Amino acid sequence: MPHEEFARLRRSSPVAWNDRGGGHEGFWAVTAYDDIVVVSRDTGRFSSRKGVISLDDLDDEQCDVRRTLLEMDPPQHTDMRRITARLFTPKAVRKLRESVRSTAAGLIDEALGRGTCDAVSVISERLPILTLCQIMGIPPDRRDDMIRWSDAVIGSDDPEFRDPAVEAVPAELRRLLPFGHPASLEAFDLGRELAVERRHRPGADVVSALATGRAGGRELTDREFCNYFLMLVVAGNETTRHSISHGLAALATHPGEWRRLRAGGIDSYVAADEVLRWATAVHFVRRVATEDTRLGSVTIRASERVVMYYASANRDEKHFDEPQHFVIDRSPNNHIAFGRGGPHFCLGSHLARLQIAAVLEELARRVRRLELAGPPDRLRSNHINGIKHLPITFVADR
Ligand code: HEM
Repeated sequence: MPHEEFARLRRSSPVAWNDRGGGHEGFWAVTAYDDIVVVSRDTGRFSSRKGVISLDDLDDEQCDVRRTLLEMDPPQHTDMRRITARLFTPKAVRKLRESVRSTAAGLIDEALGRGTCDAVSVISERLPILTLCQIMGIPPDRRDDMIRWSDAVIGSDDPEFRDPAVEAVPAELRRLLPFGHPASLEAFDLGRELAVERRHRPGADVVSALATGRAGGRELTDREFCNYFLMLVVAGNETTRHSISHGLAALATHPGEWRRLRAGGIDSYVAADEVLRWATAVHFVRRVATEDTRLGSVTIRASERVVMYYASANRDEKHFDEPQHFVIDRSPNNHIAFGRGGPHFCLGSHLARLQIAAVLEELARRVRRLELAGPPDRLRSNHINGIKHLPITFVADR
């Protein structure tokens, strides 16, 4: 991570023009925490409709066909978010606490049984998917498909996940697929299958809410349903997975903080927040200026892109003491890993914190020592701070 470069930008030009080059259009890089909060809150001046997770603009047709909650502005966004919001509140998520803890405990026991293993495949990639299956009402035997789909769509810049079969799909078809990837069609099929079932027999799960929910006085179209479904699968899976992996790597390389966690007395949610800050699983999200406007000391012209670097804001010295240090009981810790302020604040934040806290609690209870058994293998992506493989040796408590 270019933390020194970010620190230099925060000091000298917190809203800096980045030319990009190579025929790509440039963008404003916003690196200071306070400016990011301003952009996040002001959906009137800074719109999400042109795309959020990529540095490049999609054309109007692509935007419309691929649009999810992430790429909507109020009031359309408010209506759509309301369909699932009640299933992600702290109260709703608290009900999953015991089952998430027991799943985390089982996965950690499996890692202990192996001694040395890839902690991504044994722990971090499995807990988020199993939790998502539960909250969304997806049969757990589809877990491996879900991991494959989200690896494919998020990791499409990484040679390990690049699928030559994708190139065989005509570019014109790919252009209009969510994430530009045909794996999305397989996810759509599963979503549609479940929707038919839930319309007959709705349950208390997210797919039922999507299948029966209404926005603007009408049911969701097939496209809206499918995009929402896939977005939840991807958003809830990758980010949490990589945060857990970064947390494990941080504890393995900061033995003092590990001892303090093990000694007890640290709230596992406080520890989870430091893991979230440290990991900052989403490097950036983007907006487009709707009018000529000022941000900090610069003038941004209408239709220019504005990129919020959470990776930088989470190390902003004005908001965090010694931000380059991993401090397991950091307080205060108003990290910005889920965004901050504004209507797009992460819908799954409570679910993610619950899972990370559960891993930390069960780790401290069951594991005496954890050590890196090799270097973490990072995902090639300019958007997600991912770890593909993480060899760790786990030693049991007794
Ligand atoms: C460590 C885990 C996570 C991180 C770091 C994370 C990060 C983020 C960020 C930065 C945004 C803001 C995007 C913006 O401002 O445009 C966001 C939005 C969102 N996240 Fe998360 N997320 C995590 C886990 C989850 C989970 C578990 C779910 C649900 C299953 C989820 C669902 C969503 C959704 C639906 C949105 C869009 C909200 C909206 O536009 O109204 N996320 N997330």
